[in-house]
This record gives sequence, C-alpha cells and structure tokens, in this order.
Amino acid sequence: MLILGIETSCDETAAAVVENGQIVRSNIIASQIDLHRKTGGVVPEVAAREHVPQILPVIDEALTEAGVTINEIDGIAVTQRPGLISSLLVGTSTANTLALIGKKPLIPINHIEGHIYANWLDLEDEIKFPMMVLTVSGGHNELVLIKNHGDLQILGSTRDDAAGEAFDKVARLLGLPYPGGPEISRLAEDGDKERYELPRAMIRDGYDFSFSGLKSATFRLIQEEGEQLNHADLAASFQEAVCDVLSAKLLRAAEEFSAQEIHLAGGVSANKRLRELTHKRLMASGLNIGFRYPQKSVYCTDNAAMIAGAGYFEYQKKPESFATWQNIEAEACL
Ligand code: KG4
Ligand code: ZN
Repeated sequence: MLILGIETSCDETAAAVVENGQIVRSNIIASQIDLHRKTGGVVPEVAAREHVPQILPVIDEALTEAGVTINEIDGIAVTQRPGLISSLLVGTSTANTLALIGKKPLIPINHIEGHIYANWLDLEDEIKFPMMVLTVSGGHNELVLIKNHGDLQILGSTRDDAAGEAFDKVARLLGLPYPGGPEISRLAEDGDKERYELPRAMIRDGYDFSFSGLKSATFRLIQEEGEQLNHADLAASFQEAVCDVLSAKLLRAAEEFSAQEIHLAGGVSANKRLRELTHKRLMASGLNIGFRYPQKSVYCTDNAAMIAGAGYFEYQKKPESFATWQNIEAEACL
C-alpha cells in the first residue's frame, strides 16, 4: 500500500511516499531554518506563509522521486495536530483537496504518533510490543507506553519546556544559531560535562519532566561566570543534565512496565550523548531488551515519511472507516 504523507506542523514543509509503513520511496523536506535563523526561532505567521508556496512543489517532487503519479497513491496521511495552527492548516487543506478530487482515503495523524512510527522506517526486523518510547522534540516531550498499534498510553509529559526547547533556549543564551540542539551537541564534544553542576529536576519523581529550572540555573551560571565562562564545558554540562534525566526515566519506565523494547524518537533523539547514555543505562540495568532510534537523522526531526508510516498502520486498524472522504480539521493541541 502506497501512502503519501504530508507534514506542515511547524517549520518544515514535507511530503513523502512510503510503502507498507516501512519502505521509504521518497522523503522531501523544504526546511525554513535559514528564514527562522534571522529571528532566532520560529515566528508562526512567517512559518505558515512560507508553507504556502512550498507545499505543492514538495508534493510533486515526492511523487516524482517515488516514480508514481497521484493516481497510484492508495491513501493520503496528513499531520492534523498538535502544532502551529496556521501551519497545520496549509497541510490539512492541501490533503483535503487532493483526497476529495482523487477519491482517496484521508488519514489524520497526530504528529507525536508520527515521530513514534519513524522507528519503523527502513526496518528489516520486527518490533516487539510492549515498548516504551521517549518522544523528545522542540514542541513536545512524552514518555509513551505502546502495547500494540493504536494502544498508546502517555505516562508522562513536560510540565514546562520540552527538552528540545531547552536546548534551543540555552543555545540562544550562548549566541548559537537556531536550531540550538545540534549546535550545543557539537560544542559539547570538546567540553567537560563534569565542569558545571546543574540540576536534574524530578529525576526520581514520576514520569513527568521539567526543564525550566535547568534553563534558569544555566542562565544564572552564564551571568555569574561572565568572561570566565567556558562555552564548551557549559554545553557539555547542560547536555549531560538533560540526557541524564531523559535516559533515567525511560529506563525506569521500561522496567516498571516490562517493556520488550525502548525507543527514542523526535528531534532530540538525534543527540549522540542521549543515545550513548541510554545504551549505558540499559547495559547497567541487566534488562535484555531491544533499543532503537530512527535509522537516519532525517527521520528524527520533522519529516513526512513518519506521517505516511503512521498513516499506513492507522489505516490497517480500520480500513472501512476511511472508505468515504471526510473533511479533516487542523487542531493546535494534543
Ligand atoms: O521533532 P522536531 O524536528 O520538531 C518538533 O516536533 O518540535 O525537533 C526539533 C528539536 C529542536 O529543538 C532541535 O534543537 C532539537 O530537536 N534537536 C536536537 C538535536 N537535533 C535536533 N537536540 C539535541 N541534539 C541534537 N543533535
Ligand atoms: Zn516533531
């Protein structure tokens, strides 16, 4: 089954063609990063306007690269929520129109579920349920127990900033460009992670996350140190504090709920130290379970292949419910 995926929830205009939820035939992303660098972050109105001229050429390129026409597509999956409402509207309006004209099944996808299904892309073996997934991005941060396709339970989420958002804000304090996660990660490679002591909020406390205290502590430290501040050491110490909390909670949840696999997903899952620390903790735990993260870094950050993949599994659950076209409305929240 060939699904055309469309993703416009934030600042990437993306379209992809995926076969049976796993084989990526094309994955096109028009990034707005250069535009948002000028303002140090995403301005919603600017992002939405930029999607408009990009969306049709991006879809056209995804179809061409996959070597198919729109007539050969079996269904269209589109990010419906959560995200910036005006950005989401560009994707959903386009998908509604294409599905209505082409009489195709139209499958609404939750962006976070999309990130989760990024771990199925290019996969050659079988994923075992139940699994514990840490979805960590700029806009969201959840710990999700998945017992089967469609059987998802959010155990915890952030009470304030998401991990990626904290990376972006601290990067900005250090004068690094947007998006800050990859910049901090690069800078941290030459830094000493033990140099500055930073808080690990709620590390042993439930499954919710909180990163605003860490962000404030980092801000205070930057001010106190002034000229003396070692940027690489600060980046390494900050990254360690975030990854320590994320990996500790993921492992604790996996143990408590007897997960067969642990997964990282979302933009921050591209972070090398997070992968390393999670692996280290898994080894130390003695748990004999699988560990996955997206096979390519483009599947970590926002893309449409993950939306097409999620669309395939959503469709399989109840094909009859997609038999007739229904209008999809964009929703900003979870
Ligand atoms: O999933 P994503 O593309 O967008 C949202 O759904 O929010 O995630 C983007 C976030 C940004 O905050 C970015 O700084 C962060 O992911 N990110 C990273 C890395 N690569 C991207 N954070 C830490 N380390 C990285 N290597
Ligand atoms: Zn995302």
